[in-house]
Order: sequence, then structure tokens, then C-alpha cells
Amino acid sequence: MTAARIVTRASPRSLLASPSSIVSRPVQSKSFLSTNGRNTASAAVAISPHEPEYEASQHSNSDKAPCRPTPLSAEQRRFLDSALRVNQAGELAATLIYTAQTPQLVQSHPQLRTLMKHMYDQEAGHLKIFNELLAKHRIRPTVLYPVWKVAARTLGWTTAVMGREAAMACTEAVETEIGDHYNNQVRVLLNWARDLEARGETVSEEMRELLVTLRRIRDEELEHLDHAVENDAKQAKPYEILTNVIRGGCRTAIWISERV
Ligand SMILES: [Fe+2]
Ligand SMILES: [Fe+2]
Repeated sequence: MTAARIVTRASPRSLLASPSSIVSRPVQSKSFLSTNGRNTASAAVAISPHEPEYEASQHSNSDKAPCRPTPLSAEQRRFLDSALRVNQAGELAATLIYTAQTPQLVQSHPQLRTLMKHMYDQEAGHLKIFNELLAKHRIRPTVLYPVWKVAARTLGWTTAVMGREAAMACTEAVETEIGDHYNNQVRVLLNWARDLEARGETVSEEMRELLVTLRRIRDEELEHLDHAVENDAKQAKPYEILTNVIRGGCRTAIWISERV
């Protein structure tokens, strides 16, 4: 079943318009936002120096009144709707790129079979997560879903025809943009959490889980970037033109998918 069939095409509704509120009172005690210990070639992208640290309150809510939902602002709801819509489109594109690349790459370089399957499996896992989130919160997919599907298949097929290095350069370029994209979302959610804490409120378990999920996916995307560089992405010809075109395409697709 394709993602388009899985996702409900209901009218847009905020993530927080549902009974499952993101924000609640009173303060809960959990420190869940520590940065991880990535130390790879892509660490500079993975852990932005601008990503704020956040230490949740150590107060316990076990002896306090039950949590009372506090809705996020309309601007925050729009941000989440838009971010999750883009994430879903991006993960669909990633699975299609690898699907198009793998047969050609494995035929000429059988040693890449395990790596390609590993990366595809992770992308399929990411796509499943965002399909479920969009369906759960009735967020519509981007209207350009069919366009991105064609573009992703074309990109994957073309770079595989160009050779192993070009295919890896494609992964490097895509994951650089996607890593930044997820980093931005993580930073925004961290800032929300910090602001809530400053007001004596906290984030709900649902938002905690989303933040943990986004960080994990970001790190997996950047692991793909590392694999691509290790497999001679930078030997692609013409490397600069190819990666700049792909990165520009990714940024354009993200910009459009955020809006429609
Ligand atoms: Fe992914
Ligand atoms: Fe990826």
C-alpha cells in the first residue's frame, strides 16, 4: 500500500486540536533533551552549536493536581502541521530514491547490497512513523506528493546510471539538507520546551516522544551521509554541480511542501 493511501486526506487539523494535548501542567520531572554523543564526519551538522541545551525541572508531579491541557498557539500548531507534512514527503522520496538506485548499484557493486538495504530499511521506518503521525492528527500530505514521487524516482535512477560515486553524492547532498531540516525542528521544539519550563509548565509525553523521534531520525539521516562519504561520494563527477543541484532541489521541495 502506498503512503498516499495510508494517509488520511482530511481537512487540515492541528496536531494540538486533538484531545491528545502536547502541553500540560503541572511540571513533570524528566530530563529528556540531552544531546547525544555523535562523533562522526557529519557531527558538525548533526549537533548544531546553536541547538539549545535544556534541563527539565526536577520537581515531581506525583503529589499535584492532574495535568490540565494547555493548547499551543496557532503559530505553533501550523509549524507542527507543516513540519510533519514535509517530513513525510521527504521520507517517501528517500525510500523511492533508494528503491531506484539499488538494483543498478548492487548489480555492478554487490558489496553495497547490505548498505543499501540498511539505509532503505531505515527510511521505510521513518516513512511509517510520519504516515502514522499524519493519519493520527489528520494532517494532509503535500498536494505535490505525486510530483515528488516522480522526481525522487528520476533522481535515484539517474544518479545510479551515473555510477556508484554519483549515487553516493546524491545521498550526501540529500542527507545534508535533511539533516539541517530535522535539526531546525529539534531546535524549535527545544525552545518551546525551555519556554514552557520558564513559565512553570512542561511538555507532554507526546511531545517528548516526538522530540526523541526527531533526534533519532536526524542521527540516522546523518549516518547515511557518513556512509555516502565513506563510499566515495566526493569522487563523483561533476561533484560540485551534482550536489549543488540536488541540494537546491531539496530546499525547493521543502519550501513548497511546507506551504502546500
Ligand atoms: Fe529518513
Ligand atoms: Fe536518509
